[in-house]
Amino acid sequence: MTTAPPPNVPEGRTATVQHRYDRQAGRYNFCEAPAELLFRRWRPRLLGRVPSDSRVLEVGVGTGENIPWHPPDVSVTAVDFSPTMLAQAVPESRQHDPSPELALMDAQALGFADESFDAAVATCVFCSVPDPIRGLREVRCVLRPGGQLLLLEHVRSGLPVVGRVMDLCNPVVVGMQGVNINRNTVENVRRAGFQILEVEDLFLDIVKLIVAEPATS
Ligand SMILES: C[S@@+](CC[C@H](N)C(=O)[O-])C[C@H]1O[C@@H](n2cnc3c(N)ncnc32)[C@H](O)[C@@H]1O
Repeated sequence: MTTAPPPNVPEGRTATVQHRYDRQAGRYNFCEAPAELLFRRWRPRLLGRVPSDSRVLEVGVGTGENIPWHPPDVSVTAVDFSPTMLAQAVPESRQHDPSPELALMDAQALGFADESFDAAVATCVFCSVPDPIRGLREVRCVLRPGGQLLLLEHVRSGLPVVGRVMDLCNPVVVGMQGVNINRNTVENVRRAGFQILEVEDLFLDIVKLIVAEPATS
């Protein structure tokens, strides 16, 4: 595991969100267990789309819930900006062959050369990245042309009443957990310079599987 500090020392909003994750890392898997009953069905579906023999970036690996689903024939670099979340991923990564390389890094300032990866994966991450468009632009830069962005994200529901309730509850959830429940992540992906290839609604117009690639123009 790389222990070097993130390239930019987080400040402001980024530091606040990072500290929220640092604080909850020890109980994260326990608290998320009910949601995980659904997500464990969707994770293999997402990771199953990673192309063979590819170099994969996982953004916001957290406690490593996706690691068991990484295909065996790919090389994975997995980053997170919370040292304590990342520490939780270490045992899981050691059990997986080949082990992903874990690195402490802010998605908004990725320390990789342009076009270093064939695919990038993230699950429930761009709801918390303080500046999601900046983070997604960074991901676009490190993806090769034609590379795949594979996301599993909860987003603001397009159902009017549900969406409005999400807007009303959002400040409370952000204050407690650093998670936004009303982001339009599909639009954010587009605004970051990706072409959307596929959006699959997995749950109540809230959980989406999003496939995109860097836009060519
Ligand atoms: C809700 S958790 C999801 C963890 C994991 N992907 C999963 O599916 O279980 C969000 C993760 O994204 C990380 N994260 C949020 N913003 C980040 C950023 N700017 N850079 C790197 N990691 C970030 C958090 O530290 C946390 O581990």
